[in-house]
Amino acid sequence: MERRDFLKALAGLFHYALFIPGLETTGLCLLYKGQKEKEVSGMAYTAKDYKHLLGMPGFSEALLTNHFTLYQGYVSNTNKLLELLGEMVKGGKIGTPEYAELKRRMGFEFDGMRLHEFYFDNLGGDGKLDKSGKLYKKITEDFGSYESWEADFKGTGSMRGIGWAILYQDSVTGRLINQWINEHETGHLAGCQPILVMDVFEHAFMIDYGLKRADYIVAFFKNIKWSAAEARLK
Ligand SMILES: [Fe+2]
Repeated sequence: MERRDFLKALAGLFHYALFIPGLETTGLCLLYKGQKEKEVSGMAYTAKDYKHLLGMPGFSEALLTNHFTLYQGYVSNTNKLLELLGEMVKGGKIGTPEYAELKRRMGFEFDGMRLHEFYFDNLGGDGKLDKSGKLYKKITEDFGSYESWEADFKGTGSMRGIGWAILYQDSVTGRLINQWINEHETGHLAGCQPILVMDVFEHAFMIDYGLKRADYIVAFFKNIKWSAAEARLK
């Protein structure tokens, strides 16, 4: 790959990272759009359709449609990144700074894709956790009470910064742990399974709630699809 092509591709990736609704025509975006799209070969990821979530109480159509677009960008960039890295391996570019930077970028794009899928998949419910179910029982066992877990999870999601609050299950011991993820890729617990995932990037709530992240978290809890979260539990 020529250095010029690499810079164009990288600009396209960074555009999605910095995407803000209404500011689509950044210089980076224009630079990338000048490049012809390539067919993605192999096992390309496909964006899931979450239109069934439109109409969720506490989430405007504008907020959700923008969020779906952002998610689609992560799917597209994951595919582009895999394609570019594959080309670099074939072209003998391993060991170059370009290869290293794209490799570092993979966690951001892939986790941005996958975490949004966990998030949207655990929304669209009535927010009621079955007290006779195995997840409620496990939460009370590991946190002392449901209320203690909820306070810790909400506290995690209220931390300053952009990222995610995740209720994980340690696949080795089965223990549940609430964890903060910085951006999309920093702080994941190795070998743990996400059970409940909450997006606390500003794009997840600012259109509807401004700076009132706590109000968004209340709305999130009212729409949790606990059956989806429980199905992830081992
Ligand atoms: Fe998001």
